[in-house]
Amino acid sequence: MPVHFHESTKTFHLFNGKISYIFTIAKNGMPVQLYYGKRLPDKEDYSYLLELYARPMSVNPYFDDKTFAVEHIRQEYPSPFAGDMRTPSIVAAQNNGSRIVEFVYDHFEIKNGKPALKNLPACYCIDEKEAQTLYLYLKDEVLNTWLCLIYTIYENRNVICRSANITNYSKETFVLESMLSANVDLPDDDYEMLTLAGAWARERNIECHKLHPGIQSVYSLRGHSSHNFNPFLCLKRKETTENTGEAYGFSLVYSGNFQALADVDTYHTTRVAIGIHPASFRWPLKPEETFQTPEALLVYSDLGLNDMSQTFHSLFRERLCRGFWKDRVRPILLNSWEGVYFDIQENKILEMAQKSKELGVELFVLDDGWFKNRNDDTSSLGDWSADLTKLPHGIEGLAEKINEMGLEFGLWFEPEMISKNSDLYKEHPEWVLHTPNRNISVGRNQYVLDFSNPEVVDAIFKQMKKVLDCNRIAYIKWDMNRSLSEVYSSYWPQEEQGTIYHRFILGVYSLYEKLIEAYPHILFESCAAGGARFDPGMLYYAPQAWTSDDTDAVERLKIQYGTSMLYPISSMGSHVSAAPNHQLHRNTPLNTRANVAYFGTFGYELDPCKLSDEESIQIKEQIQWMKKYRKLIQFGTFYRLKSPFIGKETAWMIVSDDKKTAIIGYYRPLQEINSVYRRLKLQGLDPSFEYNISSADRPLFGQELMNAGLVISDYSASENNDGSNEGDYLSRIYVLNAVS
Ligand code: GLA
Repeated sequence: MPVHFHESTKTFHLFNGKISYIFTIAKNGMPVQLYYGKRLPDKEDYSYLLELYARPMSVNPYFDDKTFAVEHIRQEYPSPFAGDMRTPSIVAAQNNGSRIVEFVYDHFEIKNGKPALKNLPACYCIDEKEAQTLYLYLKDEVLNTWLCLIYTIYENRNVICRSANITNYSKETFVLESMLSANVDLPDDDYEMLTLAGAWARERNIECHKLHPGIQSVYSLRGHSSHNFNPFLCLKRKETTENTGEAYGFSLVYSGNFQALADVDTYHTTRVAIGIHPASFRWPLKPEETFQTPEALLVYSDLGLNDMSQTFHSLFRERLCRGFWKDRVRPILLNSWEGVYFDIQENKILEMAQKSKELGVELFVLDDGWFKNRNDDTSSLGDWSADLTKLPHGIEGLAEKINEMGLEFGLWFEPEMISKNSDLYKEHPEWVLHTPNRNISVGRNQYVLDFSNPEVVDAIFKQMKKVLDCNRIAYIKWDMNRSLSEVYSSYWPQEEQGTIYHRFILGVYSLYEKLIEAYPHILFESCAAGGARFDPGMLYYAPQAWTSDDTDAVERLKIQYGTSMLYPISSMGSHVSAAPNHQLHRNTPLNTRANVAYFGTFGYELDPCKLSDEESIQIKEQIQWMKKYRKLIQFGTFYRLKSPFIGKETAWMIVSDDKKTAIIGYYRPLQEINSVYRRLKLQGLDPSFEYNISSADRPLFGQELMNAGLVISDYSASENNDGSNEGDYLSRIYVLNAVS
C-alpha cells in the first residue's frame, strides 16, 4: 500500500517504487515536511530530518523550547501563526480583524483510489487499486473550522496530487484571502527555476534562472492562465540535463488566476507554493460551507527533464483527459481561418471542403465569421446563429453537404465573449463583466460575459445547443480572445465580489461539462488567442489545445519544444499554413512546415484551392504519412534531443511502447558555411535491437544510435557538394524500424 502511517512517530510515508514523500506531526500539531524525492526505505522514524536549532531572532511558541521556531520548520500547509514569516498557504480574515489561523492535526483517513473534486478538473483513477489517497484532518478550535489536506499517490506514476478543502462549522462567516493548493518546503536552494513564459504568438518559451534569496514567481491576473506564464514551475539542479539529474515539477490543474512561486529564505531552504493567486481572491466562507482548492501535481524525477515531462505526458493523457477522444488518434483537419478569415461564403467553403477531401483531410473546421453579421472582429459575439446571407442553408445545411463529401464538420465558438454590437448585448447589457460607474475596457473590440452568473452560462448553452442539435458537429474550437478586466458581477452581492474571478472559471468549466454530457462525441479543442489557456484544467475537458496563433515553422520549434516540457504531443494543435507565413511573412519549405506540424494533432490552416498541383501532391503524401504514423506520434514516448533555446538546431523523437519504431524530427533553420560534423545521440531505443533507418544505407543497433549517435552532418556547403537540396529551414524526419 503506498500510504503508510507510523503511529509511534506520527510519520506519514507516501511511496511507490520510485518516490517517497514523508511528513510528520510536530509537537504543536502542525504537519511538517521531512522528505520529498527519490524512494527511501519505509521506516518508523525520520525525525532527525526535522532540524531544530535555537536561532537568533526567532519567535517561539514555547517559553521553554527555543529550538522550536515555526519560521525554520519545513511545513505542509503553513499559515501565518506562531511565527512563520514566509509565504502562507492560507489566510483567513475574521470578524474580529484577526488573520491568524492555527490548524492542528486531529486525525486521518486513507482510502483506495482518488476522489473527484466537486466542480473542478482533476486527475482520476480508473481502477481503485492504482492509487491511494490520504485525507489529513486539521482543526482550528477558535474558528471551529476543519482543514483537510488531500494527498494522492499512484502506484506506478512519480506523481503526488495535492489539494485542500476547508469547512466552516462556526456560526460566523470569515473571508479566505488566500488558500493555495500545495506547499512544499525543500531543504536547500541549489536549484534553477525553469518556467514557461512568453506572449501572444511566442507562448511557453523556456526560461531558466538560478534561485536567489527572496520570492521568484510566475503568475496570472488575467482571468485565464495566460500567454505570459504557464501554471507550472520546475526546480532542477544545475547539472540536471534532459536525461540525467533531479527535477521537481509543479503544475496546477486550473485555468484562471494562479501563482507559482519559489521563496528562498536566508537559511537557503526553498518553499514552493502553488495555487489560486491571492491578489484577486476573497472568498467569504459562510457557516456550513466548504471551499475546495484546485489540484496541484508534484512530479519528481532523478532521470532528468525528459523523464519529468514523460510523467506529466502520460498522466495528462491517461488520467486527466477524458471521454471519447482520450485514446483516439486525432482527425487531420483543415481550418478555414488563415484561408479565408471572415470572408465566409457557402460556395467557397464547399469548394475548400471538396479540395480538402481530395487531399485526404478528415475534418473540415469552419472558424470565426460564420454567425450573424460577423464580418470582422467588431460585432456579433453572443449571437450564435448562422449568418444566412453567407450560409443560406444554415450550419445544418452546410454540415450536411460537407458530411456528404465524407468529411466531418467542426465549428468555432467564443462562448465567454460578447460584442457591444450584438443582439445579446441589446437584451442583456448587465451580463457584461463591469464595475458600476466605471468604463468597461475592450479587448479585440469585445467585452467579457459574466460567467460567474449561472443564468448567463445557461443562456449560452441554450444558444449553442440549438446549433449542435443538428448532430452534425464533430468538433468545436472553443476560443477566448481577451483577458478579463473591471471584474465585478451585477449578479452577486457586494461581499461576493472577491469570488468572481474564480466563479468565472467555474462557470467555464460548468459549460464544458454540460456540453460534454449532452454531446459526448464532440472533440473539443481549447484556444485562447492561440495558446493563452493551454493548461491542465482545460485538458480535462478539451483533450487538445491550439498551441499558438503563430504557425511559422521556425517559431513553432520553440513553442512546441517548450510546450512539451509539460504537455503531451496529442494535446498540441499544430497546422501547416501558407507561405509566406501570415504572422512573420517568412517563407519556409512545405516539407519543413509539415515536419514541424507532424508533432502534434496535425492539420492545415490555408485555402486548399490556392495550392499548386505540386503542393497538392506533396500534401496528399504528408497526410498519408501522418495517417500511418499518428498513433505512434500522438501516443508514443517523446524525448527532447536538442533545444532551440540553446543551440542552432532542434531535434526530438518519439518511440513506440514496444521500442520497435521511432520517429525523429531534426531541424536546422539557418544554413551554415562549411559546417561542423554532427551526431545526434538518440534516446529510448532498445540497445539490442537493430534498426533500419529511412534514408540510410545500413541498419544500426540501438546501442550505436544512443551512444555513437546518428550521423546528421550537413555537408551542403562543403567543397564537394553544391548545396542545392539543403539551404535555410532544413528539416529531416527519420523513421526507425526494428529489423524483425
Ligand atoms: C483567435 C484564434 C485563431 C482564430 C481567431 C478567430 O485569434 O487563436 O485561431 O480562431 O481567433 O477570430
